[in-house]
Amino acid sequence: MAQQVDLIIHNAAQIATCASAGRPKRGDALKDVGLITGAGVAIHKGIIKGVGPSAEILSRYTAPNLINASGQAIVPGFVDSHTHTVFGGDRVHEFEMRIRGASYMDIMAAGGGIVSTMVHTRQESKNNLIRSASRRLDQMFSLGSTTVEIKTGYGLDTVNELKMLEVIAALDQQHSCRIVPTFLGAHSVPPEFKDKSNGYVDLVIDEMIPAVAEWYQSSHFATENIPFFIDVFCENHAFNVTQTRRILEAGLAAGLRGKIHVDQFNSLGGLDVALDLGLTSTDHLEVTTEAGIERLSRSDTAAVVLPAVNFNLGLTNFAGGRALADAGSIVALGTDMNPGSAPCFSMPLTMAIACRYVRLEPAEALNAATINAAYALGLSNKIGSIEAGKAADLLILRCDDYRNLTYLLGDNKVQTIIKDGQIIG
Ligand code: NIG
Ligand code: FE
Repeated sequence: MAQQVDLIIHNAAQIATCASAGRPKRGDALKDVGLITGAGVAIHKGIIKGVGPSAEILSRYTAPNLINASGQAIVPGFVDSHTHTVFGGDRVHEFEMRIRGASYMDIMAAGGGIVSTMVHTRQESKNNLIRSASRRLDQMFSLGSTTVEIKTGYGLDTVNELKMLEVIAALDQQHSCRIVPTFLGAHSVPPEFKDKSNGYVDLVIDEMIPAVAEWYQSSHFATENIPFFIDVFCENHAFNVTQTRRILEAGLAAGLRGKIHVDQFNSLGGLDVALDLGLTSTDHLEVTTEAGIERLSRSDTAAVVLPAVNFNLGLTNFAGGRALADAGSIVALGTDMNPGSAPCFSMPLTMAIACRYVRLEPAEALNAATINAAYALGLSNKIGSIEAGKAADLLILRCDDYRNLTYLLGDNKVQTIIKDGQIIG
C-alpha cells in the first residue's frame, strides 16, 4: 500500500540530488551531481522520504499535495557557507575609491574598510540591524539560498559582538532561511586598540570567547544542534599567525568549531595552523601555494572558495579551485556577502563566476554550493542534498537543465523554493 506523505513533486525533467550519504564530495564524486531524469520526490513533515524515478515515487507514496514539475529541473537549496550579512551602513564610497585606483588593503590600512563598517554597526540598534539584514536575506533566499552562515565581526567589542549574535539568532527565528552563526571577533583590530593588537587578542580570548560560548549554550542554536563557529582574519593589518593560533585554540577549547579567513592577499602561514588544528573550513585561499593546496587536499578540512570577492575587487588572481578540485579537496562555495569586498547576494552568480574564473565545471559548482557547503558548516548529515532523511530544502527551477544556473548570467532561474517541506514563493 502506498505510504501517505504531505507532498509529492513528480514528473521533473531532472533532479540533481547531489547525493553523498552524508560525506563531502571530492575528486570524481565532485563531478557527479547524482542526476535522475523523469524524477520525483516525496516529502513528509519537512523531511525527504524518497527520491527516484517519478513513476516509482508515485507508486510508493500518495499525497494530498502534488506538484507537477514537468519540464523543470530540481536542485538542493543552496548553502551559502560564508557571509557577513549583518552590518550597518554601506561602503559605496570605497567602491568608487577602488575604481579610481585604491586597493582594498590601502583602504583598510588607512582605517577604512572593516573598521568603517564597525562604526556604523555599533551605532545601529538591534532592531535596525535585524531589519536591514532581513531584507538582504530576502534577496538571498529568492535566489535560492535556503541556508546562510552569518558572521559577527563588525562589533569588535564584547557588547556589540553579543548584539550581533542576538541579531543573528533573531534572523534565524524570523526568516525562512536557516542561519548558522559564527563569532568573528578577530575580524580587525578596533581603533581603541590601535598599536596594541595583542591587548585586543587578550580581550577576545579572556572576555569575548567565554561570553559568546555562554550565549550559544543558552541559545536555540544549541538546542537545535546547529553548530557555532569561531573565525579569524589572518592577514597583514588584521591578525598574525601567532595571534590567529591563540584565538582559534581558545575558541576550540570553549567548544566552538573552527574556520579561518586565510591566504586572501598574503600567505602568512595561517593555513598550516588551520590544518594543525583540524578546522572545519579554510576560506578565501586566493594566494595559497602549491604545497598548501596539496596539504589541504589531503585533509578533511573544506576549501571554501569565494570568487565574488575578486570579481568585485577587479582582481584576476582567483583561488586555485581547479587545482584544489584536481588534488581531491573538499571544494565549497560562498558569496562572502559583505559591504566591502563582496556586496553579493547571489549563489548562482557566485557559481557562474566560479565556472569561468576558477574553472569549476557546472556539476562541481553545484556540489560546491550544496553538499560541500553543508559540510563546511558541519551540517552535511542534515542538508545539502536531496536524499531520504535530509531536510526538504529544494529548488524547482524555471528550466529543464541545472547547468543553466551557471550558464546564464544574472537571470534568476529559481521558481519555487521548498524549505523544510514548506512551499515558499
Ligand atoms: O571575507 N577579508 C575579510 N573579511 C571580509 C571582508 C569584510 C569587509 O570588507 O567588510 C572578506 O572578504
Ligand atoms: Fe569573509
